[in-house]
Amino acid sequence: MALHSHPERRERAKRARPELLAALRQRCSATMGGVELEAVIARLQHNLYDIVEPLDVLYGERTDVIALVRRLLEVVADGLAERPERLRVLDRRREVDPVWFQRSRMIGYVAYTDRFAGDLAGVRKRLDYLAELGVTYLHLMPLLQARDGDNDGGYAVVDYRSVQRRLGTMADLQALADDLHERGMSLCIDLVLNHTAAEHPWARAAAAGDPALRDYYLVFDDRTEPDEYERTLPYIFPQTAPGNFTNVSGLGWVWTTFNAFQWDLNWANPDVFAAMLDTMLYLVNRGVDVLRLDAVPFMWKRRGTNCQNQPEAHLLLQALRGLVRVAAPGVLFKAEAIVAPEQLVQYLGAHERHRPQADLAYHNQLMVMLWSALAARDVRLASTALARMRPAPPGAGWVTYVRCHDDIGWAVSDADAAAVGWNGHSHRRFLADFYSGAHPGSFARGVKFQADERTADARTSGMTAALCGISAARQASDVAALEAGARRLLLLYSIIYSFGGIPLVYMGDELALGNDDDWAARVGSAQDNRWLHRPPMDWAAADRRSTPGTLEHRVFTELRRMGAARRSLLALRTGAPTWLKDTGNAHVLGYVRRHPRSGTFLALANFSDHSQHVSQELIARLGTHHLVPVAETAAEVGEQGVALPPWGYLWLTEP
Ligand code: GLC
Repeated sequence: MALHSHPERRERAKRARPELLAALRQRCSATMGGVELEAVIARLQHNLYDIVEPLDVLYGERTDVIALVRRLLEVVADGLAERPERLRVLDRRREVDPVWFQRSRMIGYVAYTDRFAGDLAGVRKRLDYLAELGVTYLHLMPLLQARDGDNDGGYAVVDYRSVQRRLGTMADLQALADDLHERGMSLCIDLVLNHTAAEHPWARAAAAGDPALRDYYLVFDDRTEPDEYERTLPYIFPQTAPGNFTNVSGLGWVWTTFNAFQWDLNWANPDVFAAMLDTMLYLVNRGVDVLRLDAVPFMWKRRGTNCQNQPEAHLLLQALRGLVRVAAPGVLFKAEAIVAPEQLVQYLGAHERHRPQADLAYHNQLMVMLWSALAARDVRLASTALARMRPAPPGAGWVTYVRCHDDIGWAVSDADAAAVGWNGHSHRRFLADFYSGAHPGSFARGVKFQADERTADARTSGMTAALCGISAARQASDVAALEAGARRLLLLYSIIYSFGGIPLVYMGDELALGNDDDWAARVGSAQDNRWLHRPPMDWAAADRRSTPGTLEHRVFTELRRMGAARRSLLALRTGAPTWLKDTGNAHVLGYVRRHPRSGTFLALANFSDHSQHVSQELIARLGTHHLVPVAETAAEVGEQGVALPPWGYLWLTEP
């Protein structure tokens, strides 16, 4: 759908430029002047294209779009007026160095505040630990005030301007951000845009009959429209929350994509847009560098579709980013869009007219393909599927990851599977069986999540260590199996550290921490087994990282080495393309990265439980004869080529 290349819209936007620039100038001149003011105006000039036309498409039929932009610019000006000096300095630095987040020094860590360190004050005391691991980017899982009781791990927010009481206060969050900035680290937090908790004041007002607030949500008087939508909508939690609408007495049928207590916002209402823009500016002014925008594919609904990845969802991001950047140009958007491979890169702005949207997005396809290759001991599907994806635009980048707090959905496309002669459905089923441990000979100890009877698809829960075979080996006190498990974990991490993007270490993986077997008792419900892979940090295990001979030492040390090597290799920075290479061996994944100054980098990764050979020809052709010392189980490089040990990996560069 060609959404915003309409000549009339273009003309309207052009005509309004001087007026909009003057409006912002006037509003800002009360609080700033001189060079600072000119910089703000220049930013608006630069971003206006991404603001006016998308908003015209989204809201032009409903409201006077120029008046709307003026109103939003007031929100921006207010955000700017209250932006602390030290954050403005950071903004300046990042405007001078816009590739700051693409440098290979960027390494992320993802944790729940309480599970990692009790509360925010506790996190501040653990920064040395993170620095030791090489971390420069900390993503704390949802920490804004959520509803009491089940809140989907914090994803049902009642107040976007306060921190969950048990974790601390907004002042604690600010203090943490200051500490991080002093160390050259940045802070990422979750912002849930698609829905609020049913107990949010907006929802309460809607339920109490306020028509303006009712329009903040998607409410229907009867089942007619919901039934029409349901025809093409999937269920996100088919077992625990089937259906996409919830009957709220006195109100009607409310759109609830996820749980009944998570009410989808009506983004077709410009007031919702304005309110969320204001929220964003409030949070970034507390020192948050990166907003993880939760569940963005769901933000726009269209009858007859699955109501995901609609063009308007992209326009919403484009306009929000354009506006936030005027006030806080150092802030990044990270899109949480766990969608089909061909939809992923669009969230980085490779969409329709190639405009910026999110600066970062999850490389879900890489994650799925790594697990797929590990179970199949075969890299052909991974190599094919990854090679078929469009690269991230140069100014943006992926976050690469092995595990996160969510289940793994087996996003294997039928077309990719067919390209290597496999059946997509059978392979997805195999993966769900394999990682639940049900498949004969499986080393994994995960569990199935939300098996859907309608589609016969299931997803997977479990920590990396459990899915890699470490937990089973520990249970059986099997030394060889433990070694195999450790190698598998390190193999996967070696790829996310070098494939392109910011690697995210999921809390505990650096110590090969297993599943939380007590999760049901801890959470007080046996409903949502994603809690299996959200264990409390084991600080006693962390202490063992300095004791040679322990698994913790092995894994932690090798991750540190990967980080150090990564920092030294320009070719590993985010923003340069990754080329999949045919290694001539179906068990060995190969990819190349290049940088004009440091030359070619080649990674080889053996996904089988036997040694594998890669011929000298590939290496000779690329000229990558220098071995980067990272892996403990070193490969042998000789005249005849490379011999990779079982689950061994190898990083090579030009000498
Ligand atoms: C995102 C989160 C997930 C949550 C959902 C609804 O996908 O990662 O944990 O359940 O959004 O907010």
